[in-house]
Amino acid sequence: MKILAFESSCDETAVAVVEDGRTVLSDAIASQADMHALYGGVVPEIASRKHVEVICALAEQALRDAGCTRQDIDAVAVTYAPGLIGAVLVGVSFAKSVACALNVPLIPVHHVRGHIAANYLAFPELEPPFLALAISGGNTLIVDVRDYTDMEILGSTRDDAAGECFDKAARVLGLPYPGGAPMDALAQQSQGGVYHLPHAHVDGAELDMSFSGLKTAVVNLAHHAQQVGEELDRAALARDFAQAVSDTLVPRAMEAARRTGRTVIAAAGGVAANSIIRGDLERACREAGYKLYLPPLRLCGDNGAMIGAQGYYEYLAGHTVGMDLNAYATRDISE
Ligand code: KG4
Repeated sequence: MKILAFESSCDETAVAVVEDGRTVLSDAIASQADMHALYGGVVPEIASRKHVEVICALAEQALRDAGCTRQDIDAVAVTYAPGLIGAVLVGVSFAKSVACALNVPLIPVHHVRGHIAANYLAFPELEPPFLALAISGGNTLIVDVRDYTDMEILGSTRDDAAGECFDKAARVLGLPYPGGAPMDALAQQSQGGVYHLPHAHVDGAELDMSFSGLKTAVVNLAHHAQQVGEELDRAALARDFAQAVSDTLVPRAMEAARRTGRTVIAAAGGVAANSIIRGDLERACREAGYKLYLPPLRLCGDNGAMIGAQGYYEYLAGHTVGMDLNAYATRDISE
């Protein structure tokens, strides 16, 4: 079954053709990051307009790259939530018109379910149940993936997402948007251990997380140094910051595995590209005897293929919709 999949929830327009949920036939992406970098973050209105400009040509490219014609497409999948509402709406509207024109089923896909499904593309043997650590620019979740479409949130951030925190910390360190990858590169230049940053925990909800205090601490450190004319050890701060994020995420993922009895963990989302988090996860899983899946970097960030992968399993579960599908800025992964 060939699915034409659309992703437009933030600043990447992506269209892919995926066969039977596991094989990527094409994966076309148009990133707007350079444009938003001028403003230090995503400007929602610009994001929506750019999606409109490129989505049609990108769909044609995805078909061409896959060696498909429109008639070869069996269904259309699309991210319908969560994300920037105007941006999501572009993908949903376009996908609806394609499904209608081709007279094929329309499959709504939750963006974070898509991130988790990126693992199915990289690891053919991976099947639920497993535990997912979904860490991206807009979401930070520990999810019990009981089945392909049956998920329960075990822990989540109470405020900022891990990626949002990386991006803001990077900005005060003078790094370009999106800041996660440059922060990662800068952190490699130091052993850290210089800055003592807060590690928050949520009383009574040990699997939940909070990153806003950490973000504020880095912003305050940078502003204070600027005001008193002090030189910051930027590399050490980047390293200590990433370590603080990792120290928040990894022990909670391990604890969630212990509580649920899961012995397989899969990472997902843009922040799963972080080398310190990957290293810590590898070490912790090795020590605990768990099997760890770390998607290749190109499948960590937003892409259309992951929506096609999850779309296949949503289709098998009977989750197709009509032309009344709407876009949503927020929606629970377990709905
Ligand atoms: O998954 P994604 O592409 O978009 C969302 O669904 O949100 O994630 C983007 C986020 C950005 O905040 C970006 O800075 C972060 O992932 N990111 C990283 C790294 N590469 C990308 N964060 C930390 N380390 C990285 N190497």
